[in-house]
Amino acid sequence: MITGGCYRMQNLAVLYCTLCIIFVSTLPLASSAKLKVGFYKSTCPSAEKIVRNVVNKAVSHNPGIAAGLIRLHFHDCFVRGCDASVLLESTPANTAVERNNPINNPSLRGFEVIDEVKAKLEAACPQTVSCADILAFAARDSSNKVGGINYAVPAGRRDGRVSVSDEARNNLPPSFFSAEQLAVLFARKGLSVDEMVTLSGAHSIGVSHCSAFSNRLYSFNKTHAQDPAMDPSFAAFLKTKCPPPTNVPRNPILALESVTPSVLDNNYYKELTNHRGLLSSDQTLMDSPLTSKIVLKYANNGAKWSAKYAKAMVHMGSLDVLTGTQGEIRRCCSVVN
Ligand SMILES: *[C@@H]1O[C@H](CO)[C@@H](O)[C@H](O)[C@H]1NC(C)=O
Repeated sequence: MITGGCYRMQNLAVLYCTLCIIFVSTLPLASSAKLKVGFYKSTCPSAEKIVRNVVNKAVSHNPGIAAGLIRLHFHDCFVRGCDASVLLESTPANTAVERNNPINNPSLRGFEVIDEVKAKLEAACPQTVSCADILAFAARDSSNKVGGINYAVPAGRRDGRVSVSDEARNNLPPSFFSAEQLAVLFARKGLSVDEMVTLSGAHSIGVSHCSAFSNRLYSFNKTHAQDPAMDPSFAAFLKTKCPPPTNVPRNPILALESVTPSVLDNNYYKELTNHRGLLSSDQTLMDSPLTSKIVLKYANNGAKWSAKYAKAMVHMGSLDVLTGTQGEIRRCCSVVN
């Protein structure tokens, strides 16, 4: 089977994978080695340009892909570090991969963009640029394309060889989490409350299925069918789009932020101050005393938020990375070498 121009050798991959777990576990921890801006300057000078061209083309064609690519990087970094484990497809030996966990499948998107980038990079500089770095560059290029937010991405990540479905469920935030629960989950990754609120601003773009929030419209709790934290006129609008949960076969998608749904900006925070956050995990940021001041700060200062977003993305992109001789440079992003 051909995936993004690369050949899948599943049985071989399984063998290598078994060996590599033993190998990697004997190495010292990754934190000593550092990522570097311009990591591919001498080994693959066109690397970042190749990524940018493919991403710009894909996002021009479909702006929603920008949100997908940013989410891919986030879902990669929070599970086993930024090691492109989220891209690995299931094999006969490992059917339960992150990518197939319900928190990722079918909602995660942009895989075909990463595959196209990888095919071009393999042609230009074989086995040089990691899939984990491609994800980090693609998230930056997406942020720049739809939000004008540009920043240098330190690189030098290597690709992991392990993907475990349950780790996705245990490390990624569900849409019903409170601000306090989100803060705990982000703190486990070394990210501050401020960074958690900052990164949530990525919900300025992107979409959600009705099923992720329709309890807020129809079955909130015993005393309130509708979530009182939601602007009633917004709830009335959403009800025209999202059928009651009993009609499960229909599960439309809606913009997470509907003022400028294709622009990465601080309207997300402004909407939260208007009680028009789509997910509970969005609105809670305004409604919790832990985070409400940060939301107000970003609602009032888009430039401040953009600068903080760039910094927080770089920090998130450094989580538990493999570097040096750890892991590998995958030839094909969806399968280990
Ligand atoms: C339902 O939610 C509202 C708003 O959060 C709260 O005031 C009320 O106590 C809740 N009712 C029950 C039965 O939990």
